[in-house]
Amino acid sequence: MHLGVGDKTIAAMCDEKGVNVDFFLTVINTFHDNQYFPEQHLKQFPARMLVSYLKQTHRYYLEQELPAIETQIENMEKNCAVKGDTLILLLNFFKEYSRELIHHIKREEEVVYPYILALEKSIELRKATGDLNAKMKNYTITNYKQEHENVEEKLFDLKNLIIKYLPETRNDSYCHTVLRELFGLEHDLNNHSRIENLILLPKVEDMEQLYKQITG
Ligand SMILES: [Fe+2]
Ligand SMILES: [Fe+2]
Repeated sequence: MHLGVGDKTIAAMCDEKGVNVDFFLTVINTFHDNQYFPEQHLKQFPARMLVSYLKQTHRYYLEQELPAIETQIENMEKNCAVKGDTLILLLNFFKEYSRELIHHIKREEEVVYPYILALEKSIELRKATGDLNAKMKNYTITNYKQEHENVEEKLFDLKNLIIKYLPETRNDSYCHTVLRELFGLEHDLNNHSRIENLILLPKVEDMEQLYKQITG
């Protein structure tokens, strides 16, 4: 949603964008307040709504947040007189982290989410498909739950590198900007993982049971 919303209500804006207002308010409140996390309510939304939201946040990390942080690390070099090798270390560390995050997102979008959407469709149609049955024999969402990496924890080392080991600079404000962005990304990823781990994946486990009952 773009800024300059005038006096429009949230309901009107959601309506214009084809967004479910109840879902929007629930997600935005969980994002705003760490203590607010209505698990049962969130699990009631269709899996496709959760997946669509998660995919859009993936786009935001890849297209906005990661490039912005990379540019800001480069700005540190231009404006803070950070010694070359420290900056190279920092940039390499960040690039390695970005690669891991991209890999994580790719796997979810190419394997996990399509599986979830196919499962939901089959349940709605109350119809088994050979493809889904074959997939479920080898791999269920419980497997993914076990291998689902904690991508935000790895940001800890990067923040530590800046907080503890950055040499004295000419202008610290550029370094503070990078740090602020990293804290922001960490906060966003925490929220994202909380929805994946505590809402989506348990919901899909229930859906798998339901699918077996319907088609068994
Ligand atoms: Fe994700
Ligand atoms: Fe994830």
